Amino acid sequence: MDQQSIDAALRARAAKVIPGGMWGHQNATRVPVGYPQYFSRSEGCRIWDADGRSYIDYMCAWGPMILGYGDPDVEEAAARQRAQGDGLNGPTPRLVELAELMVDTVAHADWAMFSKNGTDATTACVTIARAGTGRRKVLVARGAYHGAIPWCTPSVAGVTEEDRAHLVYYDYNDAASLEEAAGSVKGDLAAIIVSAFKHDLGKDHVLPERAFAHAARRVADEADAALIVDDVRAGFRLDMGGSWELVGVKPDLSAWSKAIANGRALAAVTGNDRFREGARSIFTTGSFWTAGVSMAASIATITKLRNTDAVGLMSASGERLRAGLQAQARKYGLALRQSGPAQMPVFLFEGDEDRSLGSRFCVEALNRGVYFHPTHTMFLSAAHTSEIIDETLEITEEAFKAVAHVHEELAAKAG
Ligand SMILES: Cc1ncc(COP(=O)(O)O)c(C=O)c1O
Repeated sequence: MDQQSIDAALRARAAKVIPGGMWGHQNATRVPVGYPQYFSRSEGCRIWDADGRSYIDYMCAWGPMILGYGDPDVEEAAARQRAQGDGLNGPTPRLVELAELMVDTVAHADWAMFSKNGTDATTACVTIARAGTGRRKVLVARGAYHGAIPWCTPSVAGVTEEDRAHLVYYDYNDAASLEEAAGSVKGDLAAIIVSAFKHDLGKDHVLPERAFAHAARRVADEADAALIVDDVRAGFRLDMGGSWELVGVKPDLSAWSKAIANGRALAAVTGNDRFREGARSIFTTGSFWTAGVSMAASIATITKLRNTDAVGLMSASGERLRAGLQAQARKYGLALRQSGPAQMPVFLFEGDEDRSLGSRFCVEALNRGVYFHPTHTMFLSAAHTSEIIDETLEITEEAFKAVAHVHEELAAKAG
């Protein structure tokens, strides 16, 4: 990136007043050199960086955008609520309306409660499970991401062993390892937490196998423990009733955030009657949890998602993108490995262990106006129409051409 750019100037200023200049997984030093850190605006499925370059966005603000940036129905609902009031001494009527809508939409839900971030929701699920069972142990899949707080953050900085003392690990999609983990904590099992699908960073994504999902339900039932689905990342992109509806399993508790309010800060826990008392008994609050604008946005978002078959549309667009990329990769002699649900894809190149080829491809696409991520789950939205996919594929054709050339040169040098 040009040293004189607005992005570069912002990074230099940030380095002085923000630890590390930026932090966490949205730090642009974790994506290939050339990616912008700062953005200035968005519309539909497009974003503009601080220097005014526009991109078709396949990260959707890392998931929260699902109907399109600035969706008129969501914005109108939010504006109407803002004119009436947002954070007040107690919740607005939107709280009850949204809880009713979540209960009506999510298959396993008898109740809902709200917070601000996905981490709030996953943490509340674990706390409710412990309160509801009076037990301590929680089974967590190795490598799964459930949030940025000591009990589950992937970092070890500032985390003590005691923070994770009651976690026991199993392998996703491996019923035997789940049973073994459950067997090791007999009499003390509070919960099994599962991701909607296996979406570990930098790895192929894997959908849940039916046999594994049903085994998880059975193991939880036999121990009278809670089955928690962490639907923070996938919620409302795969199935409006909850992601594990696809494998025919109803969890006791689910954690939601990201897409539920089309970009507004909101998270939710849904649960069944078995854990209603556990949920009632825990102490949970927050300065902004009852604010009405994000709830009004969420009501409009969920209503529109339901009324427009957005899941079907995102899936069809994802399949169109996937087929197009596959054909282009083949044409340029590159082995592209695409995985995950079509509307939440990740693509990795065969043999590209250090992800250098994937990074080059993403930079070539970025420079031509498409924002992909080389290792993280990507996201499509209802604003990614078939026309947008075709526009994207015109750009990726050029990006493949560019890396095929580089790739051949590198191979020749190495050989
Ligand atoms: C599966 C999953 N769980 C939990 C979280 C944590 O959500 P948040 O970052 O909103 O706290 C995320 C965030 O990416 C996630 O993908």
